[in-house]
Amino acid sequence: MTSSFKLRILLTRQEIEAAIRKLAAEISHDYRDRYPLLIGVLKGSFMFLADLIRNLDFPLEVDFIRLSSYGGATESSGKVRVVHHLCSEVAGRDVLVIEDIVDTGLTIAFLLDYLRKKKPASLRLCALADKPSRRRVPVVIDYPGFTVPDQFLVGYGLDWDERFRNLPEIYAVDADGP
Ligand code: IMP
Repeated sequence: MTSSFKLRILLTRQEIEAAIRKLAAEISHDYRDRYPLLIGVLKGSFMFLADLIRNLDFPLEVDFIRLSSYGGATESSGKVRVVHHLCSEVAGRDVLVIEDIVDTGLTIAFLLDYLRKKKPASLRLCALADKPSRRRVPVVIDYPGFTVPDQFLVGYGLDWDERFRNLPEIYAVDADGP
């Protein structure tokens, strides 16, 4: 990543809020009477999860998992491990994974496989952003928010080296200058 850069707004607060309302309506329709377990993938999904569940007015449970991808500096290596484990029992539950962005798909493919082995009653994925042009393994996103271009994004939970998570909108990082 260049040291000289500009942040260009890609998704405004209004666009994010509208997408979340739409996702929440679909999720409410499918999960209203199922007491689902929503699993937020740390750290990137924390803001999305917080806003999403404010729009879900039925009983649900929230848990978090944190994964670490090792071996690759800037790109997912596919060698993923769990660094913060779940507190909840997954067996028999209707599990909905809440992810910030699906890029190569390697991280989420690992997580879905990891959770499937714990025998949930059902397992689905909701992702705010999808970068399909970068996909290396097939991933089904049951509740997709936005399709985004092949650019590095920050804000609304997404970081660049731990910075910019606090921005309320999503920005593309553009190299600045020659
Ligand atoms: P994947 O394994 O390549 O799909 O990468 C998944 C993870 O990489 C996401 O959950 C994000 O935490 C991070 N990531 C992927 N693309 C971006 C981006 O454009 N900005 C910030 N983080 C990203």
